[in-house]
Amino acid sequence: MTTAATPTAPTAPEERPTVISIRGLTKAFGEREILRGVDLDVHQAENVVVLGRSGSGKSVLIKILVGLLTPDAGEVLVLGQKVHELPRKALDALRRRVGFSFQSSALYDSMNVGQNLEFPLTMNTKGLSAGEVRDRVLESLEAVGLAGSLEQMPSELSGGQRKRIGIARTLILRPEIMLYDEPTAGLDPVTSSEINELINQVQQNYHTASIVITHDLTCAKTTGDRVAMLLDGKMLGVGTFDEVFSSDDPRITGFYDYNFTHTDTVRNESSGGQT
Ligand SMILES: Nc1ncnc2c1ncn2[C@@H]1O[C@H](COP(=O)(O)OP(=O)(O)OP(=O)(O)O)[C@@H](O)[C@H]1O
Ligand SMILES: [Mg+2]
Repeated sequence: MTTAATPTAPTAPEERPTVISIRGLTKAFGEREILRGVDLDVHQAENVVVLGRSGSGKSVLIKILVGLLTPDAGEVLVLGQKVHELPRKALDALRRRVGFSFQSSALYDSMNVGQNLEFPLTMNTKGLSAGEVRDRVLESLEAVGLAGSLEQMPSELSGGQRKRIGIARTLILRPEIMLYDEPTAGLDPVTSSEINELINQVQQNYHTASIVITHDLTCAKTTGDRVAMLLDGKMLGVGTFDEVFSSDDPRITGFYDYNFTHTDTVRNESSGGQT
């Protein structure tokens, strides 16, 4: 069984052990170079936000972290292991320690919420009794604030609730690292802020390290201990949100101005929309 990471040490994140280390990572699709030398560290119990425009390679980056895509060059260490040199069984074992919350919630529509949560648990953890499975399902549902939804079908849930169940299904394996791909995409501002709050609660309660991929600046500001911007295939400006956005670099100020103007427009348009 996977154990939870050790509790947050009372130190600055960069003084804690590194759980993800990326050096000189490159990835091209045909002639198109998407990642051109990405460097990034994530420390124990730290939330790192990766910001970037659509198509900048954010999802490619986290798919490389869990071995769904292979890098062209560079080194990727996750929990001390070189992801792309691992034999199949060791990669599967590593993936059980890393929760991947997909850009779409990817729930099984024919299963109710309880069954959606039981599935990864019984597939990946041997020897749990029916009672232990039920306890873990309930604990994960409580962690995302949806304790009463056990019997509901995915089609009966709102967009925000589906996201929460997707996160609960990832948490049920008690991962040491969480990877969130666009956790607030398509959600209204109130539901988005609830998801941001949930990401912070997961970090505090489970002491997970996280990478949060987003182009939502509110999400970045609320959840990121540090923020990194993926631009032209490299990480630009890694630091706290305020440090990064106090930069005079026009590529950073341009991203900020574009997103806040654009976000306001999007939010005004979506008011009264999806809940
Ligand atoms: N398997 C693949 N084969 C070919 N091209 C790909 C593949 N996966 C991603 N790409 C390309 O790589 C680029 C980066 O894609 P990626 O999905 O990482 O963008 P993103 O930053 O996550 O964007 P978004 O914010 O829209 O989710 C895109 O141009 C995409 O078309
Ligand atoms: Mg993406």
